[in-house]
Amino acid sequence: MPSCAKTLVAAALLAPLLAGCVGGEERHAALDPEKVERGRDLFATCAACHDIRKRRNGVGPHLVGIVGRPAGQARGYAYSEAMAGQGDRDWTPDALRAFLLDPEAAVPGTNMAITGLPPADADAVVTYLLSRE
Ligand code: HEC
Repeated sequence: MPSCAKTLVAAALLAPLLAGCVGGEERHAALDPEKVERGRDLFATCAACHDIRKRRNGVGPHLVGIVGRPAGQARGYAYSEAMAGQGDRDWTPDALRAFLLDPEAAVPGTNMAITGLPPADADAVVTYLLSRE
């Protein structure tokens, strides 16, 4: 049954593509709206030092597009040697979570002088950052 075989081949080729599409939609749908909301509220403390709407640096570098952005590379911002020396490390959700839990442990010598967040708060803030992508 050649036509059946063709259909099977087509289905096999399309499946990963379809899975990719659904996955993309799910990624945003999967963000818990309550967590996003909580993260947005918590971000008020970050906003004292970080702009997330405009690429404008303050006490800290702007955080526009921070998820997936390479560490220490906001244009025009004078980073600590510790942060500037992160090389090609990207701010994945996991890296962000670790940094927010304990900035000094994640990037020893960083200028970001805040006490780490409790895990649930770090999670909520990262979820909020993801919702802005
Ligand atoms: C008191 C000011 C201050 C507060 C509050 C603050 N930060 Fe920062 N943040 C900084 C500074 C300063 C740096 C640069 C660190 C360095 O150069 O070592 C930084 C760096 C960062 C970076 C790395 C950016 C990059 O370009 O690599 C991230 C991500 C970040 N902060 C997220 C947050 C989040 C999320 C919060 C809220 C939970 C927060 N910060 C609260 C001052 C602050």
